[in-house]
Formats: sequence, C-alpha cells, structure tokens
Amino acid sequence: MISLQGISKTYHTKNDPVTLFTELDWKIEKGDFVALMWASGAGKSSILSMIAGIIKPDNWSIELDNIDITNFKTDQMIEFRGQNIAFIFQAFELIPNLTVAENIDLVLDISHANRRYNTLEILKKVWLSGKENRYPSELSGWEQQRVAIARAFVADVKYLLADEPTGNLDESNAMKIMDLIDALHKETKNTIVMITHDRDIASRANKLYRLHGGKILTQ
Ligand SMILES: Nc1ncnc2c1ncn2[C@@H]1O[C@H](COP(=O)(O)OP(=O)(O)OP(=O)(O)O)[C@@H](O)[C@H]1O
Ligand SMILES: [Mg+2]
Repeated sequence: MISLQGISKTYHTKNDPVTLFTELDWKIEKGDFVALMWASGAGKSSILSMIAGIIKPDNWSIELDNIDITNFKTDQMIEFRGQNIAFIFQAFELIPNLTVAENIDLVLDISHANRRYNTLEILKKVWLSGKENRYPSELSGWEQQRVAIARAFVADVKYLLADEPTGNLDESNAMKIMDLIDALHKETKNTIVMITHDRDIASRANKLYRLHGGKILTQ
C-alpha cells in the first residue's frame, strides 16, 4: 500500500513561489493499477518523485507498506528505492551508449533487486526479440518505450511509477503500450501508479483518480 497524508509542496524559485498542492491525501492499495489524471505542468512528475523519495514534500507522511520513507537518509532511500520501485518515464530515458540488453541489465546492477525475468524473455514479452544488441538510437521511439517497459518489469520490485508512459507516442502505439503494461501488471501483480493528462490512457487503469479542488478524488 502507498499512503500519502497531508502532503504539501511549494517550490521556492528566485521569482514567485510555486505551490503545487497543500494537504494532499492519497491511498493506493497493494497490487492495484491506478491512474491519476492531472493537467500538464501541474505537478505530475513532482508527486511521483515524492513517492519515490527523490524530492521531499514540505509537510508529509509518505508510507510504502507501512514503512515511513519521509525521514529516510539519502543512502537509505537509494537502497530502498532500488529494492522496491521501478519507473517508466515519458521520454524513455534510455542510456544511449548501452545496448537494449545492457540498458535492461543495468537496472539490476544498480538496484541490487532480484531478477524477475531473463533479459531475452522480457524482450520477447515486449515484442523486441532480436533487437537486444541494438543501441537506442537504432530504435524508433515506440521501440524505445518498449525497452523502457521491459526495464521497468525486469527486476522483482513491487512498485511501478509511470510518468506519462505514452507521452511521445501516437494514439495507436500508446494503446499498445497500455496493453503491455496491463498484461505485465496481471502477471506480476505490481502496484502501478500512472500519472497522465490523457483521459483515454488513464481509463486503461483499474482505478481512475482525478485532482479536483486540491483533493485527489476517485471517479
Ligand atoms: N525544482 C523545481 N524548482 C522550481 N519549480 C519547479 C521545480 N520542479 C518543477 N517546478 C515547477 O512545478 C510545476 C510542476 O512541475 P512538474 O514537473 O511536477 O509538472 P508535470 O505535471 O509533470 O508537467 P509536464 O506535464 O510538463 O510533465 C511547474 O510549474 C514547474 O515549473
Ligand atoms: Mg512531468
């Protein structure tokens, strides 16, 4: 379970402070696949970074499986994140000088998490058999995003945070990415938190939330 309680966040810039939210509460049950619809530029990436302990809210309690991560020291957070959390980003974020297979295996080296799938096995699941030795620049955007999906599921971690996972794809490929995420969710029973501004994408999750009047509400 992921539990956010009373989360506030204001960015202090040289000019005006930017307040994203105050007193935000959200509970996500174990094994759920939830989507939060949120306008662009409104704080989607920020809230995922908070769940992952990458940025700290001003006031907080963030718990994963009843473990309060909000006061973790940096090293402790890095360790915890590696063992528990995977990501899919809007802009793929593959490492350009590593092959497809190396990009996937790097996650396991860095996180020290257990392997869930053999590299070739997960590549087959995302329809990339035979492309394991290509470099990201030798792949289309839609293929790169499938590598990113494979990378997000290869390690045996419980949580997957997806930030606009279909952001750069056309509608038909975006829906196919959702098919893949859905199939891998059923297989792995990961808890998936997806944030998107796109209603059709959001509706592919099992639960749909929307930000309204500074609160996160179920649809
Ligand atoms: N480190 C920072 N310092 C100051 N302001 C920031 C910082 N990071 C983000 N912001 C501001 O906070 C707001 C939300 O940013 P965030 O990246 O969370 O939005 P988003 O919903 O993910 O946007 P997008 O849809 O473009 O990906 C923006 O107005 C942004 O300018
Ligand atoms: Mg963003």
